[in-house]
Amino acid sequence: MSLDSYYTLGRSGLRVSRLALGAMTFGENWGWGADERTARAMFDRYLAAGGNFVDTADLYTEGQSESLLGRFIADSGSRDRVVLASKFSYNAEPGNPNAGGNGRKNILRAVEGSLRRLGTDYLDLYLLHTWDRVTPAEEVLRTLDDLVRAGKIRYAGLSDVPAWYAAQIQTLAQAHHLQPLVNLQLQYSLVERNIEREYVSLAQELGYGITAWSPLGMGLLSGKYRPSESGRDGAGDGRIQALKGSGLVSLQDKFTPRNWAIVGAVEQAAREHRLSMAQVAIQWAARRPSIGSVILGARTLEQFEDNLAALDRPLPDEALRTLDEVSALPLQFPYSFFEQAQQERIHGGVAVGDKPQGYRPPVSVAAAEPGAPGLAVAATR
Ligand SMILES: NC(=O)c1ccc[n+]([C@@H]2O[C@H](COP(=O)([O-])OP(=O)(O)OC[C@H]3O[C@@H](n4cnc5c(N)ncnc54)[C@H](OP(=O)(O)O)[C@@H]3O)[C@@H](O)[C@H]2O)c1
Repeated sequence: MSLDSYYTLGRSGLRVSRLALGAMTFGENWGWGADERTARAMFDRYLAAGGNFVDTADLYTEGQSESLLGRFIADSGSRDRVVLASKFSYNAEPGNPNAGGNGRKNILRAVEGSLRRLGTDYLDLYLLHTWDRVTPAEEVLRTLDDLVRAGKIRYAGLSDVPAWYAAQIQTLAQAHHLQPLVNLQLQYSLVERNIEREYVSLAQELGYGITAWSPLGMGLLSGKYRPSESGRDGAGDGRIQALKGSGLVSLQDKFTPRNWAIVGAVEQAAREHRLSMAQVAIQWAARRPSIGSVILGARTLEQFEDNLAALDRPLPDEALRTLDEVSALPLQFPYSFFEQAQQERIHGGVAVGDKPQGYRPPVSVAAAEPGAPGLAVAATR
């Protein structure tokens, strides 16, 4: 499937590709990214494949990612075609608390920096990167609404926030006729399915489209990591090993028996259906409910080519079911109360099976073939 099938993001008229280009690996400042030549090749290849959705942040590679993208967009003359997303929250000046966070002062500072580095006078999508635990929802919403009215951004969204905060912001926007937010950018993969507990239903109910980051678990699902003979450690050269000891990635959390079982299932599906492991993992994420777009990350052009083809050959339902089962979340309170047994007690044994979408896929796996209408509906909510 080519990337020039576009889906509306959340409850909006903004059309984006099912696979987005993630630019966190653009630039070498962090030690595990791509140099300018490789980053440019990935950008050009993405546009040539029909892709239109590009994700960056002021944080990424200390601003290098935005600067490189600004050059690539200018050189390719693609500003109008590209749906350009960036983010604020992270601090640009140690010691100055207002040079970071989600307060009005920082948002207005950060947007000017992003626009300058990206060489543009507007962003298509501007995201709060991470909840700062202090800024009231009203302040974030009103500032983003002001930016829309000022023409500096077209749409706004949230990344890495508590579900209650995303619900509060959207409800306030609706009640006060401010610009509703259209996007939740959240970590989602076979090894990180926690958003299914709250965010999928939230997105469907309140009009957010979800974009999934780290669909490969930062490379864990790509096949380069295998359990050692002792089964406790992972061998393989890649970002996860590079970040070992940095405090950003915990090997203890990544190299678990559960995750190795998932890696094994991905490997088996890849072998049986003649896909790469990365393609299996990306396709699984793209075909889950409410996922509007999956953000691809790559360090090399070869990896990127591999990932771009993830939706070309649909996995059969049976293979998706096996992957669902091996990675299923443990049932926890209060979600256990929304399962069959408790619901039967509530409904007198009658009306079960109509739980809020998100606890079960709202469209059948069969209807969710890439490009099928069922999935288009899910993605437009
Ligand atoms: N909002 C947020 O908080 C947030 C956080 C993280 C990312 N993001 C966004 O999401 C995007 C994707 O995240 P991510 O880079 O973490 O995604 P990912 O797909 O989970 O990991 C990408 C990494 O996996 C390895 N890889 C990718 N494709 C491969 C392939 N085909 N074969 C083998 N190895 C492969 C590469 O690392 P190595 O080769 O070095 O191992 C690559 O850098 C980012 O660019 C960014 O735009 C957002």
